[in-house]
Amino acid sequence: MQALNAQFLVSNSTVKSCPPADLPEYAFIGRSNVGKSSLINMLVGQRKLAKTSGTPGKTQLINHFVIQQSWYLVDLPGYGFAKVSKTQRSSWTKMIKDYLEQRQNLVCLFVLLDVRLEPQKIDLEFMQWVGKNGLPFVMVFTKADKLSATKADQQVAAYKRTMLKHWAELPPYFVTSSESGRGREEILEFIQNLNQE
Ligand code: GTP
Ligand code: MG
Repeated sequence: MQALNAQFLVSNSTVKSCPPADLPEYAFIGRSNVGKSSLINMLVGQRKLAKTSGTPGKTQLINHFVIQQSWYLVDLPGYGFAKVSKTQRSSWTKMIKDYLEQRQNLVCLFVLLDVRLEPQKIDLEFMQWVGKNGLPFVMVFTKADKLSATKADQQVAAYKRTMLKHWAELPPYFVTSSESGRGREEILEFIQNLNQE
């Protein structure tokens, strides 16, 4: 699949200053360093559109990208990053919470999970909160290239078992690698289908 037409639009620190809510919107969230910005670049096929870094805490604002002039992708800061001050952490948390609660055109939230890790309390609690707020979400397992195919499958299966202790039904999920492009077509097709609804 070819690169998509994608442009960076604007960064904001409050939901009120975000662009007009006039296009369907998809936001990417998850712990710092899980690979949100890398996944956005992989999806659009442009290596340097969203800024990535080996150091957690790179993305600090709500970043809007316009795709094919018809939908928005949003890169959000990571949660659960210990190495920032408490004040900064709570202002990020408020920014993210306000965004998730108030953004009218948010169609689906992509919750990214490092496929190498056991289910983390912070992610499970976050998904509980998202579910309680009635926001549709999917799970995206990242960095699949760092495990063998068998091990990745095992990790996903274990994650599903944990989710089923909390949820009657599993949300849709994707297994991805920003290095290999795994999961790209599936996610783009999923978004296209929602755009057409
Ligand atoms: P914050 O903005 O700090 O919250 O991080 P982020 O979630 O946006 O992560 P980012 O995309 O900046 O990636 C973090 C690190 O993980 C970088 O060093 C990436 O190169 C690496 N990385 C991200 N995705 C993958 C992947 O699929 N495979 C591999 N091998 N590395 C990845
Ligand atoms: Mg980032």
